Amino acid sequence: MGKIRAGIVGVHGYVPDYVLTNRELETMVDTSDEWIRTRTGIEERRILKGSGKATSDMAMGAILPLLEKTGTDPDEIELTICGTVTPDTIFPDTANTINSKIGASNAWGFDINAACSGFLFSLSTGARFIESGRYKKILVVGADMMSSIIDYEDRTTCVIFGDGAGAVLLEPVEDGTGLIDEILKGDGKGREYLHMKAGGSLMPATAETVADKKHFVYQDGRPVFKAAIRGMVETVQQIMTRNGLSNATVDWLVPHQANQRIISAVAEGLDFPVEKVMQNIQKYGNTTAATIPLCLWEWEDKLKKEDNLLLTAFGGGFTWGTTYLKWSYDS
Ligand code: ACO
Repeated sequence: MGKIRAGIVGVHGYVPDYVLTNRELETMVDTSDEWIRTRTGIEERRILKGSGKATSDMAMGAILPLLEKTGTDPDEIELTICGTVTPDTIFPDTANTINSKIGASNAWGFDINAACSGFLFSLSTGARFIESGRYKKILVVGADMMSSIIDYEDRTTCVIFGDGAGAVLLEPVEDGTGLIDEILKGDGKGREYLHMKAGGSLMPATAETVADKKHFVYQDGRPVFKAAIRGMVETVQQIMTRNGLSNATVDWLVPHQANQRIISAVAEGLDFPVEKVMQNIQKYGNTTAATIPLCLWEWEDKLKKEDNLLLTAFGGGFTWGTTYLKWSYDS
């Protein structure tokens, strides 16, 4: 028997029906389809509409088909980890709400707040529980309703973000596949460039914080842009070196979908062939913790058992890193 690793044994995604196009954004803020396409690569993004709808509803939309396609009863799930910066409520954690909505009555759960790195941080955390030998079925979710924290009068942020969710099921595998290595970082040094100012213990919500629009995403895009490229390229290179990987032996690079130009610069920095880079930012924009599982979901039918995947992300905090895994099944 080989070493116990955490294998992804299924993936599914969910995006809401409403399509917010660049043309519609032109009617809302001083922007243009041309600016958005050339600066970000985004053509449209999805928005969750309807009162009473929240991040957990999108997570449920990803998880229920995932359970069905993997033949998993909700009661078999032991743990749900949800990467999100847009929890349904400050507390309790959205993972618990998800468990209730999917009927996972034997599970516990918690959220991980690591912005756009939320899925990678959650995946590694879930992997440790599987590797311990105690847990057999863990849901790892990346879900964000970014529209709930975006100021649709701020053209510098509202064109970028969208809503969505993706989920994977982790199980123990002993065939050499699964999560093999990771380098994850969160030094807090870049937090001034990308954050939400109010609503936490530092600046609790008041009528003034609402009037001053301090409950929306604040981003100074240029420093984030540069740090994102550097952070993803460096950690991908480090992971490749210490695992003896080359551009020829990596089958897929799965980058966080923040900006088409960032993705292209990362591929260029690694001299990595663009046809092996998963990209769907044009359809969904930046869905924060959901971008990577949404890519895995859309590419699932192209993935083969033992494919080498490098997942790389960068987000608010700053948080960033790269995870190396061998895909565990043929679709
Ligand atoms: N439409 C038209 N003009 C715009 C828009 C818009 N939507 N947004 C900004 N502009 C203007 C600016 O006001 C500025 O005008 P000025 O020169 O007159 O001042 C000009 O365009 C250039 O602005 P920049 O901010 O320099 O534009 P840039 O090319 O850097 O693109 C962007 C901005 C898209 C935000 C880019 O910096 C970026 O992608 N940054 C990184 C985003 C990211 O990776 N975030 C991390 C993950 S998110 C998370 O963790 C939650």
